[in-house]
Amino acid sequence: MRPFLTLSVVAITVVLASCSRTEPLSKNGQGSEAVAIADEQRADDAHHGVETDVHAAGHAQHEAASQHQADGHHAHGDGHNEHHQKIEAGHATNPDQHAGHSEHTHAPHDDTHKTDQSAVTSTSPVSKDRTALQLFKQRITPIMQATNPSSCSECHLSGVDLKQYIGPDQEATFASLRMSGLIDVDDPDASKILTFINRRPEKPSLITDKIRKEEYAAFRAWIHAAVKDPQVAAAETSDAALGPTIPDEVIRHARKDRVLASFIDNIWSEVGRCAACHSPDRNQKQVEENGEQVSWIKLGDPQATLDYMLEAELFDLTAPEESLLLAKPTMQVKHGGGQKLVVGDRTYKQFRRFIEDYAAVAKGTYQSTEALPTSSDEVSQVSDIWLKFTDIPARFDKKLLQVDLYRWNPASNSWSPDRWATADRAIAGDRRLWQQHISVTAPRGSERAALVRREPHLPPGKYLAKIYIDETGKLQTQYPAELTDEDYMGQVEIDSRWQAGYGRMTAAKYPH
Ligand code: HEC
Ligand code: HEC
Repeated sequence: MRPFLTLSVVAITVVLASCSRTEPLSKNGQGSEAVAIADEQRADDAHHGVETDVHAAGHAQHEAASQHQADGHHAHGDGHNEHHQKIEAGHATNPDQHAGHSEHTHAPHDDTHKTDQSAVTSTSPVSKDRTALQLFKQRITPIMQATNPSSCSECHLSGVDLKQYIGPDQEATFASLRMSGLIDVDDPDASKILTFINRRPEKPSLITDKIRKEEYAAFRAWIHAAVKDPQVAAAETSDAALGPTIPDEVIRHARKDRVLASFIDNIWSEVGRCAACHSPDRNQKQVEENGEQVSWIKLGDPQATLDYMLEAELFDLTAPEESLLLAKPTMQVKHGGGQKLVVGDRTYKQFRRFIEDYAAVAKGTYQSTEALPTSSDEVSQVSDIWLKFTDIPARFDKKLLQVDLYRWNPASNSWSPDRWATADRAIAGDRRLWQQHISVTAPRGSERAALVRREPHLPPGKYLAKIYIDETGKLQTQYPAELTDEDYMGQVEIDSRWQAGYGRMTAAKYPH
């Protein structure tokens, strides 16, 4: 599988698309609490070995990511405005003179020695020496025929490409773009197709930026010439409109900023579970013993982590469930860290959901809005808070136990309708024990959701712990099954300060 992936992966991941228009992630946290927790935790780690908690690393990283996205968004907007001003300024100088120039002076054959205008920036005056047809053939057709993806791929993982907007000939192309509102005949520089081409991320790749400039200059020159060519300007077409054939919602889903947000939701929020051995600030020993490749978490940078996972082929895009990211921690293949996840547990499901979705997006599988996966209506974040149940019946050995915590609300004299935290893990039946760090949860879009991402903690007080056990092992055999009321085993009230750290674990007796 490795050779297959390398090429496509390089093409789609080198560049960072940070033009997020999705709801802003939290931006207030500085990660300082996280660092404090991490320091305390380190002392504990020394005693407790591997599966200590790690959310601190993930947490601080996440803040960096949020900030990054927010910055990207602004930069994108600003760049865009600036660009428009420049164009307008250039355009305003002497449009008539240019126009006259183009219509009367140069004979067509003059063009042959002027083929390469690639260095022309988008702010240059429009070339008027060539006819619309020449411009189309010399500058638009090559875009159509290029083997590399267009500049759109810097932000759109799939679904749109500039090639889709180019028809068999210039009349058909012009008519289609004009009729779908992508060319503005009265104000060519305001054409929507130019706006699309002109979108650039905060930190564009140099190569893509050069391609973008060429595409922009080519389309701009051709549109300016075409609107003045009566035959082209009057062209009609009854062909289906050019452009992407999939719904906007599918295009949105495949945007790289959306993909990153989903990565943060599904994987980044959980990699805290793996950080003791896989985060470069904590895994000295593992690196010495196993090599640099164990450091697959890129500190503070979810985009870099995603890029690395693709490059190192931790995802198997042809058979997602065989991805190393799933197969290693579930011990489906040998794993130096032992069993960290169970097939079908929440983290496993989140990882797999992301990988399957990524594979489908990268391949352009989704054709309709209905085909898109629904995102979970909850956000979660691994925390450093530990919970333990003792006295678990021995017959549940190795079964997966899930606990959901509901907070007591004195005002309404009732338990919260939504869970505030959840955790799942296999029971150690020999010791009749279950312990796990909890993930703090909140309904997506709620006020609490932003806090969860910033600092996953539980307010001190009384919570109802509802316990579910997968007696039949359905999570493993019926992915993506969930535990339901059928698997409910009992509940217990727990009053705790919910302090962070393995050494400050909250303990309760399993309800009998
Ligand atoms: C810098 C990143 C970036 C680049 C490069 C980019 N786009 Fe987009 N594109 C976006 C964003 C962000 C949106 C959503 C815009 C909005 O909602 O206002 C979007 C929306 C779209 C949409 C509308 C779908 C929708 O969400 O409503 C189309 C079509 C589209 N882009 C095509 C293109 C084409 C074609 C190119 C290349 C010529 C391109 N884009 C290049 C970021 C980019
Ligand atoms: C106790 C330490 C430890 C923990 C915790 C741990 N791992 Fe590992 N992991 C290792 C070691 C050591 C290796 C290198 C040996 C090997 O490949 O099995 C490794 C290798 C891997 C690899 C292969 C990396 C590569 O490029 O070859 C993946 C993927 C992986 N682990 C995933 C996970 C995930 C996911 C988690 C958290 C859910 C996790 N690990 C938790 C110790 C750990």
